[in-house]
This record gives sequence, structure tokens and C-alpha cells, in this order.
Amino acid sequence: MSFEHLLFTKEDGIAVITLNRPKALNALNKALLLELSSALEQVENDSSVHALILTGAGDKAFVAGADISEMRVMTPHEARAFARLGQAVMTKIERLAQPTIAAVNGYALGGGCELAMACDIRLASVNAKFGQPEVNLGVIAGFGGTQRLQRLVGAGIAKELLMTGDMISAERAAAIGLVNHVYEAAELLPKAKELAKKIAQKAPVAIKLSKQSVNEGVNMDIDRALSHEAELFALCFATEDQKEGMSAFLEKRSARFEGK
Ligand code: HXC
Repeated sequence: MSFEHLLFTKEDGIAVITLNRPKALNALNKALLLELSSALEQVENDSSVHALILTGAGDKAFVAGADISEMRVMTPHEARAFARLGQAVMTKIERLAQPTIAAVNGYALGGGCELAMACDIRLASVNAKFGQPEVNLGVIAGFGGTQRLQRLVGAGIAKELLMTGDMISAERAAAIGLVNHVYEAAELLPKAKELAKKIAQKAPVAIKLSKQSVNEGVNMDIDRALSHEAELFALCFATEDQKEGMSAFLEKRSARFEGK
């Protein structure tokens, strides 16, 4: 499948989607969001893909937000539909069967920060900048930012970022838990691939269920979340991977997981 606004590659079981509108700093317009949605479906249905990396084209931006020229003329009705489209794409990323890594190579603002937050893990280059600048434009975050940001960094810091519109450095983003690691620009993609490969070597069903347990548990009270975790733990014991993983340990050899 070929795309106008995305580059899609696959190598060694790792898919890389590069958001590719560099002249507009990879801003998310409707067409790009629809293509991203199709690309995600392609990844989800491809059992040879073990992890997905999302990054931006060029050395300046990951994604500088939703496309302001497209939004400027929207009616409230169109704006709601646009928010729902973006939210659906972010949720698709969040719930993707495979693990997802955002390799944030520059500005991750507004919808760009929201896109990064929908991924499981965020890595950033030293020149990356994060922020939710929507209040400068007379709007609020609408692709899940008011919700995912507070879950990641806590309500106090989330409200400061959402209310000031301030941009923060990669270093500050790491300090507040918004990104996992910061690398030199040239190191970012290699490090993202290294991490993706490391995760890809683990038991695939266990990776999927770890992700599901964290994602679903965060919206439950602790008793329900623990019971949910126990159910998913039990499910692992119906897999070949559990038998292989535990046998390999006891037999002092490395495990060969098949994701079954
Ligand atoms: C459309 C954008 C854009 C955006 C940049 N561009 N961001 N176009 N939508 N979000 C375009 C510029 O218009 C310009 O086009 C080109 O990209 C380069 O940008 P410059 O501003 O010239 O670059 P620079 O001076 O280096 O500044 C970089 C920047 C700035 C700080 C990232 O571009 C910026 O502030 N962008 C907007 C960031 C933002 O407000 N994001 C939140 C959007 S709201 P030309 O044609 O002039 O070369 C949002 C809501 C999500 O995301 C929820 C929706 C429901």
C-alpha cells in the first residue's frame, strides 16, 4: 500500500511509519490521519510485525500539531468530527496489538504531543520540544491530550502545560515522565530500533497482555484492576510461550518464543 503523507517501511519484524509532510512540519490534516489509520490496520493484521516505531520526516519536527490551516475554517460540527477522527486514530495506536515507540525527532506540539502520548514508549532527540499550545490558538487539546497528559505526568503538571501553552525541552519532558529517554539526534532512530528489537525478542503474547493490563487497568479501581491482572496472568498459562519460557529457564537455554 502506498501513501501520500506517510512513509512505511518494514525490516526485521519492525515497522516504521514516518509522518511525511515536512513543509508543514508534519502537521496532522484529515488526509494524513486517514492514511495513518489504514497503515495501523496494515500493521495490526501483519503477524510478522513485532513492533512499530512512529517518527517524523525531516530534522525539525515530529509533528507540529493538527493542521491549523485546515482547522481555521471549521464549524463546531466539523471540529467535533475532526477531534473524534484524531481521537480514534490515537486510540487505535494505544490499543494496537504490537508495542509502539514514538521516536520524537523535533517539535511534538498539540496533536503531535498527543500522538506521542498514544504510543507505549517515547524516546526523544535532544532538540525535541513538547507542548500543548492550543490555548494560543483559542482552542483546547482535542486528540486526547487533556486525558493522556494527566495520566502520564499528573493533573498539576498537565494543567500547567495545557493552560500556559509553554514548550518544554526533551530534558524537562524526561524529568516529568513524558519521555523515557533522550538521545543525540543521530542516535534516536537506531536506539528506537534497538529497543523495538529487544521487546520483539520477548514472548509476544506476554508483551500484548502486559500492554493490555496497564492500558485497561488505569481506568479501573485497584481491586478490579488487580483481578483483571490475575485473569491476564492466568491466560499466559494457556500459551506455549509460558511453557517454553519457563522450561528454557530451568534447562539453562534461551527461549524460542512463537507467540502461541
Ligand atoms: C499547519 C503548520 C503547523 C501546523 C507549522 N506549520 N505548524 N501548518 N499546522 N500545526 C507550517 C507553517 O505555517 C510554515 O508553513 C511551516 O510549517 C514552517 O513553520 P514555521 O512556523 O515557519 O517554523 P518555525 O518558525 O521554525 O516555528 C516552528 C513552530 C511553529 C514553533 C513549530 O511552526 C508553530 O508554532 N507551529 C504551530 C504549533 C501549534 O500551535 N500546534 C498546535 C496546533 S492545534 P509556511 O507555508 O509558512 O512555510 C492542535 C490541536 C489538536 O494540534 C487537536 C485537534 C482536535
